[in-house]
Amino acid sequence: MRKASAVKGSSFKGSQIGSSKVGPSKPVPSKARRAKANKASLSEAPGVKVAAPFSFRGAGSEWPQLDRDGQKGRMARRSGETGRSMPDAEFHQRDRGIHPPAHTPVYKTSVLRSPRIPLWSLQNSLSEVTGPTFSPDELGPLDNDLLRNYAHDGEPIGEQIIVHGYVLDGNGTPLAGTLVEVWQANAGGRYRHRNDTYIAPIDPNFGGCGRMITDERGYYFFRTVKPGAYPFRNYVNSWRPAHIHFSVFGTAFVQRLITQMYFEGDPLIPHDSIIATVPDKTAAERLIARLDLNAALPLECLAYRFDIVLRGSRQTLFENKLQGS
Ligand SMILES: [Fe+2]
Repeated sequence: MRKASAVKGSSFKGSQIGSSKVGPSKPVPSKARRAKANKASLSEAPGVKVAAPFSFRGAGSEWPQLDRDGQKGRMARRSGETGRSMPDAEFHQRDRGIHPPAHTPVYKTSVLRSPRIPLWSLQNSLSEVTGPTFSPDELGPLDNDLLRNYAHDGEPIGEQIIVHGYVLDGNGTPLAGTLVEVWQANAGGRYRHRNDTYIAPIDPNFGGCGRMITDERGYYFFRTVKPGAYPFRNYVNSWRPAHIHFSVFGTAFVQRLITQMYFEGDPLIPHDSIIATVPDKTAAERLIARLDLNAALPLECLAYRFDIVLRGSRQTLFENKLQGS
């Protein structure tokens, strides 16, 4: 990593980091004065409005007043206090009651990795509510075709399927230009990953990763093989149902969603320790893709429909985490 260097033409030196002013012309503050200043700044730390690291005044706008969950200050805007030309960056609050708590002993690894102290909500930055943006030019032509994007000397083994659906926001508005990334085990239930030592063989023609960008209707689709179930070290005889992992960026980082999609009719779903962490069973149902015969290709492959809602009252669940979406 490059070290920070002095700005050309300035007298900045690394030793000045953390000091408000260094120079022989100014007297060094007394110990008592420094203590007083430190006390004042510490007392303001929790919950204080954080100053913007930069402003956009030159472009006719400036730092948006956001609340603790990324919502622009509606009241301030209505009262005419802001009057800024920021993009509309309001987001629904998440319904914490349908998301799995971070500490869920039924999913054993959550015990060690869940936080021990209450979380702090931080003010979102401008980049978190207005980006990222993606272009189809950034993707390869086979990125959404898992049947071919890793194939070397043949096709992957397994049941070929199509997965498709729409990415919407909480108001039902299609989210165009959204990056959707997927990863999964092969038909035997094994990931192409060095830590996966399951006895199922690696498929030389299947990588298990893909990505796509939603079109103007918020629509996405990809081809793949139906993943197999696999055991995992949760409790004795714990098995994961067939599933595909999803990462969806939305139109802003605060919408980021990482979740899992399951398949309608899978008998392992009621036994899954990870789905069991979802407190709202109707919300868990929304993680199950439905068989979609209307989109199936006759004599070729079945299709599954999986719509994704970012934030809002119909938000798709975050994968056992509350943070980051
Ligand atoms: Fe998995």
